[in-house]
Amino acid sequence: MSKLPGNPGYSVLGDKSLEFYKDPVGFCDHRLEKHASRVFQSRLLNKPTAFVCSVRGMRELLHEKSGVFLKDPTDLMTNMYGDTLVTTNGEEACLLRLSLSSLFSGACLKSWNNDLISVCERHLQTLSASGEPQCVYSLFKCLGTELVLGLFLNIQPDEQPQLYQEITELCTQHWHGLISAPVSLKVPMWSSGFSTALEARDKLMDIIKDKLENDKHGFVGSLGSLPLPHPCCASQHLLLFISALIPKALASLLTSFTLALSGPQQEQIRQRARAEPEFFRCVLLEVQRLWPPFIGGRRIANKDTTIEGFSVPQGQVVMYVSHAVHRDPEVFQQPDDFLPDRWTGRNAGQEQLLCCLGNGPRNCIGAKLTDSFVKTACSYLLTHYDWSLDPPDQNTTYKWLPVSRPAEPLYLSFTRLDAHTQKHTH
Ligand code: HEM
Repeated sequence: MSKLPGNPGYSVLGDKSLEFYKDPVGFCDHRLEKHASRVFQSRLLNKPTAFVCSVRGMRELLHEKSGVFLKDPTDLMTNMYGDTLVTTNGEEACLLRLSLSSLFSGACLKSWNNDLISVCERHLQTLSASGEPQCVYSLFKCLGTELVLGLFLNIQPDEQPQLYQEITELCTQHWHGLISAPVSLKVPMWSSGFSTALEARDKLMDIIKDKLENDKHGFVGSLGSLPLPHPCCASQHLLLFISALIPKALASLLTSFTLALSGPQQEQIRQRARAEPEFFRCVLLEVQRLWPPFIGGRRIANKDTTIEGFSVPQGQVVMYVSHAVHRDPEVFQQPDDFLPDRWTGRNAGQEQLLCCLGNGPRNCIGAKLTDSFVKTACSYLLTHYDWSLDPPDQNTTYKWLPVSRPAEPLYLSFTRLDAHTQKHTH
């Protein structure tokens, strides 16, 4: 058994959190090259941390050794969301998953189909109306927010505009507490952002509890009647489901999709995606591979073990980095290139080697909903529009935290396909 390459550093002074949070991709690329290994160690959040950047290591961590590498109950998520499935282990996690999964599959999932279509239509049918370029990430975030508040709380902006606005503002304040916490590592819980966030959380919880008591329909009604281990389980999970995290992740995928397929140079790819459902599926997989919304996830070893043959002591934090796992050249040839056809060629049947939505028994419980939503929104865009960067010379550099997206707001112009055809035929 060999020692993990890299330096776990010394307390506080050796901490690399700021370097990681500023540029997680640069942080990993630099060390991947230096150590010539896709598993290495450094110091994050003032703890020695193993970084897993290979497909094999990720599968070992999340799948084969999922009983050894556990969720961290003291994770920042717990401060912000209370005890939820995300930071729970063992039997309690199994029971929670079993109960909650029923709300995200089968008949429930099917019953959302019309809602998915109508929310996409409402937000996407007027993209070309003003003749002005659109800031895509903000636009898709509004779409994602309307989706989650409609599906999970039965709240629509046109029916209850004030309440809708209040909730979206509270979700934003709550979210800012979560993202400011790791950066203000030196004074973790005392920043003013954090206390504002906790106040916002309390106000959101009041609204959620009121909904759970008084609304017996849809998701909130079903959640309220699920057999859950604790009385506050339903409200805490609703807080998680409506949090800003999910609309941002959905907006990230839609933004990456539109950027990857934008402009005259991608015309052929758009046409193939319209005409061939299988190719459309491959495009969406390739978007998930190259631009996973979340940088990764953390686990803690509950006993002495190994990852890819490197020794990992009990208590060690291990983090998988989805961006780097998805670009592991052993599995994905020309890893940095957008090549949808790889999913029917060399990588056919290897979707389970991605970790955009996690992997193994603790993968994302919203994965099917996310898939349906992304398919609905992207196929609406393809069916109705062509699009390109406007102006064409914008900076398309990405940032990766807190969710992956263009570092600066990007603007795209959308042209309706029917208008396009008319232009050509006249
Ligand atoms: C683009 C959208 C989404 C992305 C990229 C995403 C990504 C992820 C990832 C990577 C994980 C695994 C984290 C880990 O390994 O530590 C995860 C877990 C989870 N996701 Fe999602 N997710 C999305 C949407 C959703 C939605 C719509 C819901 C529900 C409303 C949801 C609920 C959850 C929950 C509850 C877990 C924890 C599961 C467990 O610990 O057993 N996610 N998600």
